[in-house]
Amino acid sequence: MNCPFQFGRAITDEFFTDRHEESQRLLGNFQNGINTILISPRRWGKTSLVKKVASSVETNELKVIYIDVFPCREPDDFFQLFAETILRHALPKWQQRLQAIGEFLTQIAPRINVSPDPINEFSIGLDLNKDEKSPIEILNLPEQLATRLNCNFVICIDEFQQIGEFKDSLNFQKLLRTVWQHHTRTSYCLFGSQKHLMQHLFTDKSLPFYKFGDVMYLNKIATEEWVNFIVSRFQNTAKKIIPEQAQTICQTVENHSSYVQQLAWLVWSYTTTVVTSEIMENAIADLVAQNSPLFEELTSSLTAPQLRFLKAIIAGEEKLTTQFAIEKYKLNTSANVVAIKKALIKRDIIEVDNNRLIFTDPVLALWLAQK
Ligand SMILES: Nc1ncnc2c1ncn2[C@@H]1O[C@H](COP(=O)(O)OP(=O)(O)O)[C@@H](O)[C@H]1O
Ligand SMILES: [Mg+2]
Repeated sequence: MNCPFQFGRAITDEFFTDRHEESQRLLGNFQNGINTILISPRRWGKTSLVKKVASSVETNELKVIYIDVFPCREPDDFFQLFAETILRHALPKWQQRLQAIGEFLTQIAPRINVSPDPINEFSIGLDLNKDEKSPIEILNLPEQLATRLNCNFVICIDEFQQIGEFKDSLNFQKLLRTVWQHHTRTSYCLFGSQKHLMQHLFTDKSLPFYKFGDVMYLNKIATEEWVNFIVSRFQNTAKKIIPEQAQTICQTVENHSSYVQQLAWLVWSYTTTVVTSEIMENAIADLVAQNSPLFEELTSSLTAPQLRFLKAIIAGEEKLTTQFAIEKYKLNTSANVVAIKKALIKRDIIEVDNNRLIFTDPVLALWLAQK
């Protein structure tokens, strides 16, 4: 029997639930050429949402191109990936791509590889030279192609926070913004995790991407939606879970999208016909156990005060700079509390959500609470 839950990668179709409002808003932005910035912690569902909307909006007149810049470490990696992806997706034939390179990327030498794939006999790479003009030509490529093909493009760039880590990132950002702001046929959907990085890039008045587009913060999927989803996924596969148990799945992992699906999958796979409380307990214990090597490694690199700070959050301590909390959790001084918080946010272990500190990974909180 096929598993009715999926996690660990972008999902579509029957695995996708909810996000009606966000889908509508994103769809509207794509259709109207409005730039979008989409922000949420990791594995809440950004990539899934963008891919779903992208597949529903594609026509001959509106083409969506998806680029994941996670592997990029410096601007040259970005330019290379950007140009190659756009050529590949905008132009089906390699002859057209070669022609476009000659016409629009005048400073760049194409590198042609014979590919084992019989449909695309050749793959085309690009040799960037350090010429000033080539980045600008590359950034203008979608706009040039859109004019040529008489269509509009939406360029979706995933893991965009990565560019904040480039050396000399500020100049790179300035260049992107300067070129892209003149585009009329191409709009951009820039999305990524690590809220502190993304928020900084797009809401800091002194940075180039300030007010670049519609900033969307993706929220968690509500418990009610999840419960309906889980119950019906069990039903469709002739197994039974009651709403209270589905609710426990959500609560355990604080509605974290990927973990809800992972825990639901564990519960489902342990169940023959009806979910029992023993199955629920085992599944939760196994979810924590499966992740524990990772958590061991992560926490071994934290200082003792940082760990005590995390324990304080788990205990529900709201005001960590008070004398009471500082003494109780041995956090030294309030300046130290501020420094710890900053360091843990920078390492993406905690983040601020609706004015509250939360664990980026709710299962890490479960694991720590048990220790
Ligand atoms: N709309 C959704 N409905 C159901 N599950 C989802 C949804 N969005 C995300 N998920 C779950 O979360 C996981 C991670 O989603 P993904 O889109 O890769 O997140 P992100 O891009 O924010 O890191 C998916 O594999 C899936 O298990
Ligand atoms: Mg993603």
